[in-house]
Amino acid sequence: MNDLTRMLETEFPFLQGGMGNVSHVDLAVSVSEAGGLGTLGAGTLSPSALEKMVKEVRFRTNKPFSINVPLSVHPDVQKILSIAVQHHVPVVSLSAGNPSPYIKMLKKENITVMCVVSNPSQALKAEKAGADVIIAEGFEAAGINANDELTTFTLIPQIASAVQVPVVAAGGIGDGRGFLAALSLGAQGVQLGTRLVATEDAKVHSNYKQAICESDAHSTVITGRPYKKIRRLLKTAYAKQLLEWENNEMSAEEYNQKTNESYHIKGAIEGNLTEGHVNAGQVSSLIEDIPTVSELFKRMMNEARTVSNQLSF
Ligand SMILES: Cc1cc2nc3c(=O)[nH]c(=O)nc-3n(C[C@H](O)[C@H](O)[C@H](O)COP(=O)(O)O)c2cc1C
Repeated sequence: MNDLTRMLETEFPFLQGGMGNVSHVDLAVSVSEAGGLGTLGAGTLSPSALEKMVKEVRFRTNKPFSINVPLSVHPDVQKILSIAVQHHVPVVSLSAGNPSPYIKMLKKENITVMCVVSNPSQALKAEKAGADVIIAEGFEAAGINANDELTTFTLIPQIASAVQVPVVAAGGIGDGRGFLAALSLGAQGVQLGTRLVATEDAKVHSNYKQAICESDAHSTVITGRPYKKIRRLLKTAYAKQLLEWENNEMSAEEYNQKTNESYHIKGAIEGNLTEGHVNAGQVSSLIEDIPTVSELFKRMMNEARTVSNQLSF
């Protein structure tokens, strides 16, 4: 147990990242039931779809869970947050935007607030505004990334030294070694994205899971740099096409259109890797199997203990 698990009331310090189109009911319930913090990713959900999912999660588990709200992505943040309040969701994570205007209101309702940041000054601002937990995400991570391009290995110690509240490391973590390293750097827990996509419990297409398992060190790419909207994708035929369009000076509007949710659904849910994109982090190169979430968490805990006992210096 540490401050983080006491605060979140979870068995393990493992958090499911909010993942648009992926962090839905089945995966969130599996993560919470396995002892982590399951998450509903609200970024791609209408308020009514989210409300339905909250009720379903509540019906299927009495363990704590959270809602992730990517602030600059969702068109109706207030409505999404009012659902969290109305249904007494214990934890909310705020990402991709300035969380300050929302923190006080959520805390007044006894909701634990976690803020996803990508540099130390954002972490300090979020802590000052009342955040209970800082999730620091490095550039290894899947999906939309910060333009800072700071790596998890350098980011976590800076933020752990800068703030008093518990820090969670995100980006590049997929096994017990990464978990242990994150703890050594000053984090109290880890947030997983890509590793959870390649589990039995994730309701994504098997082509996506398989492609992660077959990845090597060169299998992810960054798109969107010309538009300052960077996104780490698996290097599929569609991602290569996006890069080619970028090189041929596709406009920002076209980039936004070609990476909108319908293309993500085509890739991640329908498994069409030539006509749609899939998010994946650099950790893909370490992933070789598709366990259940419960197997994964047990394995990560065992591996961290074993590695910790074997360390010598
Ligand atoms: C399919 C997918 C969708 C994602 N969507 C979101 C999102 O809506 N909001 C968010 O804050 N992060 C999002 N992320 C990032 C994850 O929450 C998590 O922080 C990240 O994947 C951690 O890095 P890793 O992939 O190396 O584990 C997404 C990641 C993936 C794989």
